[in-house]
Amino acid sequence: MRMRGRRLLPIVLSLLIIILLCISYFSNHLHESSSSSSSSEESDEFLVHLPDGESEATTVANGPQAGPLLNLTDFAYLLPSNVCRSADKELLAVLIVTSYGGHDSLRAAHRQAIPQSKLAEMGLQRIFLLAALPKRERFLTQAQLVSEQTRFGDLLQGNFIEDYRNLSYKHVMGLRWAATECERRAKFIIKLDDDIIYDVFHLRRYLESLEVSQPTLATSNTLLAGYVLDAKPPIRLRANKWFVTRQEYPHALYPAYLSGWLYITNVPTAARLVAEAERLPIFWIDDTWLTGVVRQQLGIPLKRHNDWFSPNSENLDCCVRDLKMHNFECEYSVGPNGADAKLLIEFLHNVEKCYFDECIKRPPGKSLKQTCVAAVKHPVPEHGVAQVKALKLR
Ligand SMILES: *[C@@H]1O[C@H](CO)[C@@H](O)[C@H](O)[C@H]1NC(C)=O
Ligand SMILES: *[C@@H]1O[C@H](CO)[C@@H](O)[C@H](O)[C@H]1NC(C)=O
Repeated sequence: MRMRGRRLLPIVLSLLIIILLCISYFSNHLHESSSSSSSSEESDEFLVHLPDGESEATTVANGPQAGPLLNLTDFAYLLPSNVCRSADKELLAVLIVTSYGGHDSLRAAHRQAIPQSKLAEMGLQRIFLLAALPKRERFLTQAQLVSEQTRFGDLLQGNFIEDYRNLSYKHVMGLRWAATECERRAKFIIKLDDDIIYDVFHLRRYLESLEVSQPTLATSNTLLAGYVLDAKPPIRLRANKWFVTRQEYPHALYPAYLSGWLYITNVPTAARLVAEAERLPIFWIDDTWLTGVVRQQLGIPLKRHNDWFSPNSENLDCCVRDLKMHNFECEYSVGPNGADAKLLIEFLHNVEKCYFDECIKRPPGKSLKQTCVAAVKHPVPEHGVAQVKALKLR
């Protein structure tokens, strides 16, 4: 008995050690694989309990696959994106396009207007920012979005529900993704909406020239350029879509901000905006909040390019007509599509030749103002009250 006990003891002990080693190996291994997609998933959980000041510096480093988004503690990606990570060289810019999940035909128009392969040749990449389809969505299912992603790989979808009152989440999701995933991989970020027409060739040329003419600004953490909307009072009329309560926004004026139609920023600036947004109370009008309130808090100036923007789609329609017939350059580079998804395709296909020097300046007397009867159907969206001029009644 004694002899057997003595012989068994070392065997049992070494078995125990082997089992313990196995357990610790597998638990480590499991832990690694569950968090390998997100470098700081675990530390995020600790950060939640840290005081504000401490989490500020680290939220920017949030893994792209998870981690709370503003106050959405259960935020996760339904469809993640590795578009920046898989680019084989540094990108000039990544385009983040706010898109309603159900707008698959608008996304198709963007891809037809300029496919990802052609964007890649220009040093660009594009992703569409989506949220979860609401119950009322009748035409598109999540399964269809999954197959859209399989086919094109250009979607980034969060798990919060699509709603215009949730656009601030989507906007921050896009900026955070770009700031983390595209760090040292893309020089600039272009944010736009899916119903916007934009001259991507003009934007590319502008960014390339900005790198040369203003290298300090181009790489600074204070780059915000686009259509500047100057300070306006919030709309306090309940019937308006952009009605804002004093609880939501207590001040008399919004700060100046950039129209969310399209604006340009870069990775260091986006990282600062996201970090500051995490500290401030959320406000649901996304462009006013991020490029207005949050930006002002950081003291970032706005770079005004209002002359790029057409307030209506008719001007761009006329531009397409004149490009086809006379090779006239278009005065505008950005504008709304006027609910015509095909206009983006027509516009980009026709404006491209101007970048091969095949276009001419409009001759005097042939300006768009004089030749295009444009009704202002969609003024550049202002979420504040426009100055009302008193009418003289007689
Ligand atoms: C997040 O904050 C917004 C704005 O203050 C609030 O309306 C919303 O209920 C909050 N959501 C969560 C999940 O806490
Ligand atoms: C915004 O998203 C949250 C999280 O999914 C959801 O609970 C909420 O209902 C959404 N807001 C609106 C106005 O749909």
